[in-house]
Amino acid sequence: MLKLNLKNTCFKHFNITKGLIIMDLGKLQTSPYRALHASPKSVVISKRSIIMSEKKFHVAVAGATGAVGNQMIACLEERNFPTKTVKFLASSRSVGRELRFRGDRIPVEELREDSFKGVDIAIFSAGGGPSQEFAPCAASDGCVVVDNSSTWRMDPDVPLVVPEVNPHAIAGHTKKGIIANPNCSTIQMVLPLKPIHDKCGIRRIVVSTYQAVSGTGKKAIDELFDQTRAMINFLDYDISVYPHRIAFNCLPHIDKFLENGYTKEEMKMVDETRKILEDDTIGITATTVRVPVFHGHSESVNIETKDHVSVEEVRSLLQNFPGVQVMDDPANNRYPLATDAAGQDTTLVGRIREDKSVPNGINMWIVADNIRKGAATNAVQIAEILAKEYL
Ligand SMILES: NC(=O)c1ccc[n+]([C@@H]2O[C@H](COP(=O)([O-])OP(=O)(O)OC[C@H]3O[C@@H](n4cnc5c(N)ncnc54)[C@H](OP(=O)(O)O)[C@@H]3O)[C@@H](O)[C@H]2O)c1
Repeated sequence: MLKLNLKNTCFKHFNITKGLIIMDLGKLQTSPYRALHASPKSVVISKRSIIMSEKKFHVAVAGATGAVGNQMIACLEERNFPTKTVKFLASSRSVGRELRFRGDRIPVEELREDSFKGVDIAIFSAGGGPSQEFAPCAASDGCVVVDNSSTWRMDPDVPLVVPEVNPHAIAGHTKKGIIANPNCSTIQMVLPLKPIHDKCGIRRIVVSTYQAVSGTGKKAIDELFDQTRAMINFLDYDISVYPHRIAFNCLPHIDKFLENGYTKEEMKMVDETRKILEDDTIGITATTVRVPVFHGHSESVNIETKDHVSVEEVRSLLQNFPGVQVMDDPANNRYPLATDAAGQDTTLVGRIREDKSVPNGINMWIVADNIRKGAATNAVQIAEILAKEYL
């Protein structure tokens, strides 16, 4: 018999009869997965929206109809980004659609080579191929690109930026006209590691991730929803986004496998962490796992430091670091959950404890919203610094 935990789950449109769950899809919200995932708190609007000068910018969002693109539009609005005009770009499939921005309906245009004339800042989340093809076109038209794909991240002439960690790197945008947004799992890991590395030097990192399906985009969100609905109704289901069923499963496989036995996602965490922390001597090993969660990546992170640091010192370092919140009260069952992180921009850290198997070891559990801080918010924060300090 299938037993479901209904806590934190909106089931008002589900009819449970003799163990069979019948879902009335007609009554679900337009985005059905939102009903399953609905966080108890709605989106928290960052109080750190920066106050800009009077200068306003022509801004384009490439990949505007996607999971990240949608959130970017919301972030530009929530954080009151000083736009003069906005342009929303996607594939030819989306031409004819309209997206809302500050009460206006903006028609989606096809992403093309000539899309960036007169645009000051373009935030890209249209995938690797379009970034490879169109980011240089945008840059050659004098537009600065903030790119979410992995295409440009390890290019030595492209800064890879988490604004709380290495904002100074943004100055390097002049080399290619492109700034890269790191991988979602990397962003949430380097945030709490930065103050620890500065204080006592990190020698080695061992990380295992538990990544939400929204990290693969809107098709994967639908696939988890569709498979879950089919399974709880004892129906057949399709597998198309991942190589195996994701519903009620964990897949130790994110992005493609490389010759060294790691996946590309795992090597992104290794290479990007070293680039952002500006230290190639850190030993890093990663295992990245896709789990049947809609929003919010979780990570088990073990570090070894050069100098000893106590658990109390780590807590204090993290409490004082921007963008990080310590949520660590195991006696009262308080530790970060994906459902806590979803819908907010703070990276949550808990389960901070000593690893007694090595001289200077610390374990922690790090959770963040992969679409917000892991992608859209981080990109908009970069654009804010760019606009305020460089353009
Ligand atoms: N999801 C995350 O947590 C996350 C985190 C960090 C980085 N990223 C990166 O952000 C990018 C987008 O991810 P996503 O999750 O938002 O994916 P998604 O939901 O699948 O959205 C993809 C977007 O790209 C557009 N697009 C696809 N092919 C295109 C083409 N040839 N020309 C123009 N537009 C095209 C799509 O337009 P149509 O709607 O017209 O198809 C859509 O707007 C990827 O590079 C991803 O690696 C994602």
